[in-house]
Amino acid sequence: MSSPLFKLSGKVIVITGATGTLTGSAADYLAAQGARVVYLGRTQSKLDDALAKVRAAHPAAEVLGLAADVNDRPALERARDEVLAKWGRIDALVNGAGGNQPGATITPDKTFADLDFNAFQQVVDLNLHGTVLPTLVFAPALLAAGGSASVVNFSSASATRAITRVVGYSAAKAAVENFTRWLAVDLGRRTQGGVRVNSLVPGFFLGEQNRRLLTNEDGTLTARGDTICRQTPFGRFGQAEELHGAIHFLLSDASKFVTGTTVVVDGGFGAFSGV
Ligand SMILES: NC(=O)c1ccc[n+]([C@@H]2O[C@H](COP(=O)([O-])OP(=O)(O)OC[C@H]3O[C@@H](n4cnc5c(N)ncnc54)[C@H](O)[C@@H]3O)[C@@H](O)[C@H]2O)c1
Repeated sequence: MSSPLFKLSGKVIVITGATGTLTGSAADYLAAQGARVVYLGRTQSKLDDALAKVRAAHPAAEVLGLAADVNDRPALERARDEVLAKWGRIDALVNGAGGNQPGATITPDKTFADLDFNAFQQVVDLNLHGTVLPTLVFAPALLAAGGSASVVNFSSASATRAITRVVGYSAAKAAVENFTRWLAVDLGRRTQGGVRVNSLVPGFFLGEQNRRLLTNEDGTLTARGDTICRQTPFGRFGQAEELHGAIHFLLSDASKFVTGTTVVVDGGFGAFSGV
């Protein structure tokens, strides 16, 4: 018999950016564990495809796909109300939507003076405000959940260590980790543990956003991909499934006394000096 510590069945879990590589894999995993999973994304057709896929693999999956941009408050409020109308409660929010864009990076042929500040702001909007706003909108429901609610914010290895090029994304993810600690303390004190807030830090995982930066068309590593793998004691990129255990832990009662922290899943990247 499996331990009730790790029970997810029946929990209503909302995940933003749920049609992405890591987020989609996590959402499907949670649905397979018996959670009621709400896939939030911007494009209804992509959500429909994701739901069809998970239902084909797990016919008993209880899933819902709702269109909501993480920077669009009315759309988030409509989504929240629809979930509450359907399932009556919300136990967890996974803030997965995030990403970078070229203008907010400094490529080797440029200097910081070339930074496109609009792009920088857009990256902060998506990664930081796109975490704060859904949390704000879903907070009343999480507070009403009755004592074991959980928020998981996707951060990045670049939040704590300077990684060349990614100036905007790194600043935004650092702020996400700071927000995680702030909210964990605030809600922790108010609810005595009723709502926990933690960050998840994936190391380098191949996804649609970074594939061209890290691998060549023939699948071999680019110079940057090679550098990253050499700085990773496991010598490779992570695979989406390798985040499932950490997400499961953070959403379940197994992490009942865990809040305001970061769970790092990076094959040792953050521990290694490179020497
Ligand atoms: N892939 C990695 O190596 C890696 C490493 C560290 C952190 N992360 C973080 O993990 C999270 C998931 O990454 P991923 O690799 O699955 O990325 P992804 O690009 O595959 O998925 C992100 C999803 O967010 C959605 N999205 C973008 N803007 C949105 C908006 N305004 N509103 C709603 N949805 C929006 C995208 O459509 C996409 O479906 C992100 O926060 C990312 O920054 C990824």
